[in-house]
Amino acid sequence: MAVLVTGGAGYIGSHMVYALADAGEDVVVLDNLTTGFWWAIAPQAKLVEGDIGDEALVGQLAKDHKFDAIIHFAGSIVVPESVADPLSYYLNNTVKTRSLIAAAVKAGIPRFVFSSTAAVYGNPERVPVEENAVLAPISPYGSSKLMSEWMLRDSHAAYGLQYVALRYFNVAGADPKGRTGQSTPRATHLIKVACQTVLGEREQMDIFGNDYDTPDGTCLRDYIHVSDLAQAHLDALKHLRHGGASGAYNCGYGQGYSVLDIVRAVEKAAGKPVNARMAPRRAGDPAAIVAASAKIKQEMGWTPRHQDIDRIVESALAWEDYLRQRNEAA
Ligand code: UFG
Repeated sequence: MAVLVTGGAGYIGSHMVYALADAGEDVVVLDNLTTGFWWAIAPQAKLVEGDIGDEALVGQLAKDHKFDAIIHFAGSIVVPESVADPLSYYLNNTVKTRSLIAAAVKAGIPRFVFSSTAAVYGNPERVPVEENAVLAPISPYGSSKLMSEWMLRDSHAAYGLQYVALRYFNVAGADPKGRTGQSTPRATHLIKVACQTVLGEREQMDIFGNDYDTPDGTCLRDYIHVSDLAQAHLDALKHLRHGGASGAYNCGYGQGYSVLDIVRAVEKAAGKPVNARMAPRRAGDPAAIVAASAKIKQEMGWTPRHQDIDRIVESALAWEDYLRQRNEAA
């Protein structure tokens, strides 16, 4: 039995592939390498270069490998880009996920773990936000992921597909062993951007909005270390293999940090100032979003180990510095 990981050459996917390989699982990665990197994949895993929307390919892979689960990361993830080009988000995240689910059902692959997002909540009425809160995405990115959750819910009811949708909060940091990290050169995520700025890879960064209804006026987010997130997927897989309930689970710590808190943490880790300027609000940004995480802890026994924001930032900075040195040497 093997596990099929889509998007395994990407940021979170590559950490997952290492976590599965470390746990002794047999892993096949399906990735079209548009945003991922072959070298980010653990050497024990097999890479198939292809598209998740290719039902015939997934069907053939299922025949060759007898998957007991799909862990589906492949997708587009930049909130403002989804506002500018929604149809590409509905294609990559919704239409192609429909093909992948259809291929799984047809091939009899029993389990599906899905990369969902806190963006399905939009601007939550209450934080920390619980899984049963109102689902009201404010970006096409969030809508594209929510529709995929619904397809899974309905496929569970109709065909018995077991699934867990993990609603990620703000994923950050890098593998503590330094094997992989966030490698997209133009990633838009705050910690990445701040690390690139402090290392001189960018001249300046913007702080998008300081007039939100939050303690310091900048947006609050729940930053979760990517290794704790990978562990949540291992826990979800175990949960499903033991007949656990299908459904959606938050993945966050329940602690909120502002954009300014993060900039300060990066300054502390690097020992020098970040060249940041105030800028207008960015489209599609909720003011504050923090996870209630009791459900995954209680039902799956998920135990986070890397909550310290200074450690998260240090691991991100170390990876960014490694990329910088590698680019310089090339
Ligand atoms: N930000 C800046 N400057 C930057 C980059 C980001 O001020 O250069 C701010 C954003 O405006 C936002 C915060 O930092 O307030 C975090 O932004 P990110 O782009 O790092 O992350 P998002 O909150 O937009 O999105 C992330 C994930 C989504 C997930 C969402 C849930 O990418 O998948 O968190 O909150 F849905």
